[in-house]
Amino acid sequence: MKLYYVYILECNDKFLYTGITNNVARRFNEHQQGLNESCFTYKRRPLELIFYQEFNDVEQAIFFEKKIKKWSRGKKLALANSGFDKLQILSECKNKSYSKNQIVSRLSLRAESRSQKINQNSEKELGLSQNFGIARPDIFSFQETLVSKNQQIQLPILEEKKVALFLKREDVIHPFVSGNKFRKLKYNLQEAKRQQKKNLLTFGGAFSNHIVATAVAGNLNNFKTVGIIRGEELGIDLEKTLENNATLKEAHRNGMTFEFVSRVAYKNKSSEEFSNQLKEKFGDFYLIPEGGTNDFAIKGCEEILTSEDSKFDYICCAIGTGGTISGLINSAKEHQKVVGFPALKGDFLKDEIKKFTTKRENWHLEQYHFGGYAKYNEELIRFINSFLEETTVLLDPIYTGKMMFGILDLIRKDHFPKNSKILAIHTGGIQGIAGFNQKLKKKNQQVIHLK
Ligand SMILES: Cc1ncc(COP(=O)(O)O)c(C=O)c1O
Repeated sequence: MKLYYVYILECNDKFLYTGITNNVARRFNEHQQGLNESCFTYKRRPLELIFYQEFNDVEQAIFFEKKIKKWSRGKKLALANSGFDKLQILSECKNKSYSKNQIVSRLSLRAESRSQKINQNSEKELGLSQNFGIARPDIFSFQETLVSKNQQIQLPILEEKKVALFLKREDVIHPFVSGNKFRKLKYNLQEAKRQQKKNLLTFGGAFSNHIVATAVAGNLNNFKTVGIIRGEELGIDLEKTLENNATLKEAHRNGMTFEFVSRVAYKNKSSEEFSNQLKEKFGDFYLIPEGGTNDFAIKGCEEILTSEDSKFDYICCAIGTGGTISGLINSAKEHQKVVGFPALKGDFLKDEIKKFTTKRENWHLEQYHFGGYAKYNEELIRFINSFLEETTVLLDPIYTGKMMFGILDLIRKDHFPKNSKILAIHTGGIQGIAGFNQKLKKKNQQVIHLK
């Protein structure tokens, strides 16, 4: 089945360009690289992809594009930021077309709501994956000078406490390789190229942001990718697994080969025996550790902060493996304090971070893990939904939601002095919401709203 996307790019002169494509990542790369000099956006680069909507009916896509092309800048921005008016137009699109196909929403909802059936060995599906990066541009070179925007958060509590809070929108870097994933993969892929490796191999859970980012970045950079996935039961019926798992589906669409392993085998993934088995099965590969964290990843994460960010007193980020915060600690200025919010329970993270940082004492951790990795309660879900409503920023429940909950709680408790300037890093993770919502739905609990 073919998919179509209507997308909006923000040009460097602030013009909002609307277009239609059957491959949003590829088309965005073409625009950004300036492959066509006569293209309207050529002289308006660099560009930012601020919105896209997926359709499986071309007529609906064309209708949608024509409609929003006529809109003012303000209305387009409102659409991009909060989905304003989208439902209305989508219902018009549906009425316009007799197709029974479903209209689907953003990245995070894509596989969840799509009716497409995937055949594990289908040539068609493989073709889709391989066509994904037709131009095969190196997303990491054109984004070399990438600087993501800091968005000021406006909330009554911030006014009351006289604290300024900004979010660095790393989540909008790229539709598929977003947040810290872009930073962590950048130098790893360069190193893999330098070593002339053809294959990337990495590890992750069934909803891992890192797995899907490696698959997409690998695909765009001409690498074959292998994902060692925790949970051998997922491999029994791949078709069914993919139908129910947006993360693995996207990775599969990008040509990733999966190896599903038991939890015990996964725990021993660093053993020599396991690594020999992998070499035997997959040949030579460039290994990217779980979560992508190694020295190359830290180097990439050191580029998150720019000289303009030196005006902030505090830098906040979520922690999984500790790679992202290590980069921030290394690049923070003398006067800045880095505050980490672990997504998981346990004291081991401090030692992990110390391994990657240069004996700096400018950081500490705050505990808002809600009981451990992927653990949550209703308060967290309610918070994520009200934060979206009040600020139009979507947070994920595993990392950035917990971080932001913690930051606002600390502000409420006067942890940050008056007139503090805080910069929180939005490290992405939005793609994982679809899987998380499935879990919530099964338990009949309130889901995370996407707009
Ligand atoms: C969205 C998101 N934010 C934050 C993190 C934490 O990053 P790190 O593992 O570098 O600590 C991760 C995990 O990789 C993540 O996926």
